[in-house]
Amino acid sequence: MKQLQVEADHPYSVHIGAGAFDLFADAYRSLLDAADQIVVIADERVAELHLSYLLDFLTDWDVRILTIPAGESAKSVETFMSCHSFLLSENCSRDSLLLAFGGGATGDVAGFVASTFMRGIPFIQLPTTILAHDSAVGGKTAINHELGKNMIGTFYQPKAVLYDSKLLSTLPPGEVRSGMAEVIKHAFISNEKWLEDLLAIRDFSSLTEEDLNHHLEKGIAVKAAIVEEDEFESGVRKYLNFGHTLAHALEGHLGYGKLTHGEAVVLGMSYALLLSEHSKLDKFISWSVANGYPLQLLGEIHFDALLPYMKKDKKSSKGQLNFVLLKQTGKPFIEKIEVQRASAAYEKLVLQIGEVI
Ligand SMILES: NC(=O)c1ccc[n+]([C@@H]2O[C@H](COP(=O)([O-])OP(=O)(O)OC[C@H]3O[C@@H](n4cnc5c(N)ncnc54)[C@H](O)[C@@H]3O)[C@@H](O)[C@H]2O)c1
Ligand SMILES: [Zn+2]
Repeated sequence: MKQLQVEADHPYSVHIGAGAFDLFADAYRSLLDAADQIVVIADERVAELHLSYLLDFLTDWDVRILTIPAGESAKSVETFMSCHSFLLSENCSRDSLLLAFGGGATGDVAGFVASTFMRGIPFIQLPTTILAHDSAVGGKTAINHELGKNMIGTFYQPKAVLYDSKLLSTLPPGEVRSGMAEVIKHAFISNEKWLEDLLAIRDFSSLTEEDLNHHLEKGIAVKAAIVEEDEFESGVRKYLNFGHTLAHALEGHLGYGKLTHGEAVVLGMSYALLLSEHSKLDKFISWSVANGYPLQLLGEIHFDALLPYMKKDKKSSKGQLNFVLLKQTGKPFIEKIEVQRASAAYEKLVLQIGEVI
């Protein structure tokens, strides 16, 4: 098992690998013992598959369970309120502890609940998806507003992240693909050699648990280093949005749920690489096609349909579009792009993808 430290407003550890849950009764025993109530907020699908496994590590404590809808639909005001109602009905106090058990969606809503219940109670992230190597670290919590994703939330760090890789074996291929997109994003913004290793993967099902842990650990290290430098996103943390300007526009245009977040990010990264004139664009397109990312979708969507969403992006200002670009691997920067140039680049990308598919 690996351990990484995140030096945020309070330092905490991320434990990665099989056996991470053994730490409840070990390194985190005093945290659990100190709680007057322990509540697990679990994604209902994850609960079906893995709750009994988790509870086997928690037999020393009296634990309350609340299941919430699977995936993105949990990031709603309704689920947020139902979590608070549950905590109140269970007589939770400021000394209670939350355990967030699920993917990024569960972590985001449960983290938001932890940060707001009686002005903040401690919580531990127990991520169960590959994508959550990104979301469970860094302390961003959120629910969605009907006018925009992640529009309501806080910065609130967990007390620890226990990432048991055994749970990842039940992920459907689409969720593996989604999560690996954020892994390769972390490689693009940090490390050429690691990027090359990832680009050599033509089929994610060939990854062993050990390989996966290796990539997750590297991804978390990149995320942790950036969060340590810029916890509240006034500078370098924006680089984590590489590929995300177009990705969010695609998600907004298609409606959430048509594409997974990671799939949208891969399409967005191919666009950002073209805008950057990065030498690895061809290789990246070929990797994306081999691994089943739906690049062909870009040819079915007109740039003008995406533009309004890109203009609303948190990074854009006064009608100009701001993108995270990358001339050299590991050296991201932000550049303003005129709409005309952005549109021409989109057409060029569609043509280039058409030649490969
Ligand atoms: N806070 C952050 O910094 C941050 C960063 C990136 C993404 N996010 C958020 O994360 C969310 C996406 O997270 P995600 O990709 O983990 O998706 P998710 O939480 O929606 O889970 C995806 C699906 O996988 C299922 N699932 C989860 N674990 C499973 C397992 N072990 N086996 C089988 N099925 C499992 C879930 O039930 C769900 O249907 C988005 O809401 C995004 O906004 C947050
Ligand atoms: Zn993302």
